[in-house]
Amino acid sequence: MINGKTKIIGIFGDPIEHTLSPLMHNAAFKHLKLNYCYVPFNVKREQLKEAVQAIKALNLIGVNITVPHKEAVIEYLDQLSEEAKHIGAVNTILNENGKLKGFNTDSMGFIISLQKEKVSVKDKNILILGAGGAAKAIAYGILKEGGNLYIFNRTLSKAYKIKASFSGIGKIEVIEELNNEVMEKIQIIINATSLGLKEKDPMPLNPSLIKKEHVFYDIVYPETSIMREAKKIGCKTIGGLGMLLWQAALAFEIWTSKPAPVKVMKKFLKNF
Ligand code: ATR
Repeated sequence: MINGKTKIIGIFGDPIEHTLSPLMHNAAFKHLKLNYCYVPFNVKREQLKEAVQAIKALNLIGVNITVPHKEAVIEYLDQLSEEAKHIGAVNTILNENGKLKGFNTDSMGFIISLQKEKVSVKDKNILILGAGGAAKAIAYGILKEGGNLYIFNRTLSKAYKIKASFSGIGKIEVIEELNNEVMEKIQIIINATSLGLKEKDPMPLNPSLIKKEHVFYDIVYPETSIMREAKKIGCKTIGGLGMLLWQAALAFEIWTSKPAPVKVMKKFLKNF
């Protein structure tokens, strides 16, 4: 029941209608009997500044930030966590007595989702397809955990930019052309492009380059055509819902200082 004491958390994005985050968080609040409520806000780019200021004015506990504001939001914040600073993108904001602190839980959310599948990145050769916001968060997590990173992207300059900003953290190479020679040394492939969101999208790589020994992780859900190909080939495959779940669990803990009821959140996500 919403009453005068209810604490409000939001999510800012555009579009926002398809977000699954309210489902997960409200289920978690209900399960723990916490008087919190999580609501979606459609925020346009031109009004992002006002929306962020409103977090203070309305005394919200915090918000999630989603597409397309994760990078643009940074200039309106008072403080950044270490990983948000490096990644240059924020998906979670905490209102700490009127000071707004930005975090990026996508990065560790990704790593935990892999750990839950018993996949370690340490000393593995990992290929990331894509060099956008999601790819950057994943790349940072992998380098922090000691993985060797290879990045391939349609726009090469963006891959080189990630290399330049992350090369102090770990081993990172840009791949200019995907071929069998490259793929033979790779153990984990991650689709971190947005390809597959639409049924008509081309695949992010030629399936003939995937071997059954590869672990194939796709951050896009529901199942993409490249994911189906990887399954057919016999790869261990991991879908994007785990990353969504764990980034949410970490954000929940930032806002409430309580362990997230991950099982409950997962159940709601799966039922959806
Ligand atoms: P997100 O926040 O989801 O990462 P993004 O920052 O817009 O979104 O990044 C989208 C990624 O998908 C980019 O790597 C993009 O490649 P470019 O950097 O070349 O734009 C990739 N992508 C999107 N559409 C693509 C397409 N048709 N072919 C190849 N790559 C594509």
